[in-house]
Amino acid sequence: MPNPYHYGSPVTGDQFAGRHTEQRALTDRMRDGINVVVVSPRRYGKTSLLNRAAERVEGAGAVVVSVTAMGVADMASFATQMLAQVYRAKGGKWHRTKQAVPEFLKRIRVTPTVTFDGDHPTFSLTPSMTPADLHSVVSDVYELLAELSERKPAVLVVDEFQDVLGIGAHLPALFKSLADRHPTVSLVVAGSKRHVMQQLVLDEAAPLYGMSTTLALSAIPAEEMSDFLVRRAIAGEKELPVALADRIVEMAGPVPNDIQYLAYEVYGTAGQTITARDVDTGMRLAVEHESDFNAWRFDALAAGQRRVLKQLADLPTAQPYSDDFRQAVHVRSPGSLRNALNPLVEQDLVSPAGGTYRVTSPYFAAWLRARP
Ligand SMILES: Nc1ncnc2c1ncn2[C@@H]1O[C@H](COP(=O)(O)OP(=O)(O)OP(=O)(O)O)[C@@H](O)[C@H]1O
Ligand SMILES: [Mg+2]
Repeated sequence: MPNPYHYGSPVTGDQFAGRHTEQRALTDRMRDGINVVVVSPRRYGKTSLLNRAAERVEGAGAVVVSVTAMGVADMASFATQMLAQVYRAKGGKWHRTKQAVPEFLKRIRVTPTVTFDGDHPTFSLTPSMTPADLHSVVSDVYELLAELSERKPAVLVVDEFQDVLGIGAHLPALFKSLADRHPTVSLVVAGSKRHVMQQLVLDEAAPLYGMSTTLALSAIPAEEMSDFLVRRAIAGEKELPVALADRIVEMAGPVPNDIQYLAYEVYGTAGQTITARDVDTGMRLAVEHESDFNAWRFDALAAGQRRVLKQLADLPTAQPYSDDFRQAVHVRSPGSLRNALNPLVEQDLVSPAGGTYRVTSPYFAAWLRARP
């Protein structure tokens, strides 16, 4: 029996729990040509939600082009990705025959190199093209979507939007002007680095400010997650008592990825019926399996940051600037404390969710607590 839990990459189908309100909010707006920005801390399920919503609206006849800004080296790669995705889009008309390729290329002002693998073309644009040419590809793809939007809903999804700045400083402004020019296309951007998203979309001075609805993903409610764990255990032909599912959610939550990770370990170690001992063993394994990685992350930190992290693992606090906390971590001034704490938050090692500063990963926190 394969393990019925999944973590580390986007989930679909039966692996996807809850989020009904968010799905509805997103699919309605995609269908109605309204821009949306989806924000959450990492591993809350943005990409899973985007994929699911895209699938739904595609099923209802919309055309959806999805790209990601993560790991994209330069503007040429980004423009190539846009081309490939619009060509391939289910609601588009080009991918159906090889003969449509010249027709498709007529719509793009620059000429990419095309190679065929059977009927499937691969487009490539070279970094030697001028920035203006590469930007024109993004505009042309948007234009194509705008034209399609006269007959059906048209959506452009840009995941990991915080990384567009690394691709090109002008990209946010370009998206802003395209979204203004083509109000019938729904532009959906998603990102996890709150401060960058703030700077790009949410602040009053941000290039994309005020042009979208913000959908902030919070944790999936504990009960919903717990019921989901029980259902998945049944699918994996094991029995998980509700009280133990609650305990898994409590130990690993609130991040859905962390919950599925613990559930995965527990399922793997358990017999037919999952017991309290299996949950403890699962937790120990989860901590052990990440311990090399955590040791490496810990060693890479400055001494002051290590003390702050360790202290927050032992005792999460709403007042990290208080005298008590600073004394505990041997940091004299609030300024120095800020210099140690801010990078930890930016690297997502510490999360201030709900006003309490704590070590984000329950496994890293447990590893730190076990240290002298
Ligand atoms: N709706 C959900 N139901 C169950 N598990 C979920 C759900 N959403 C996310 N997860 C869990 O979180 C993991 C990460 O999901 P996903 O990649 O969609 O998150 P993300 O917010 O896009 O992450 P990142 O910030 O790394 O891009 C999944 O592998 C799964 O374990
Ligand atoms: Mg993602």
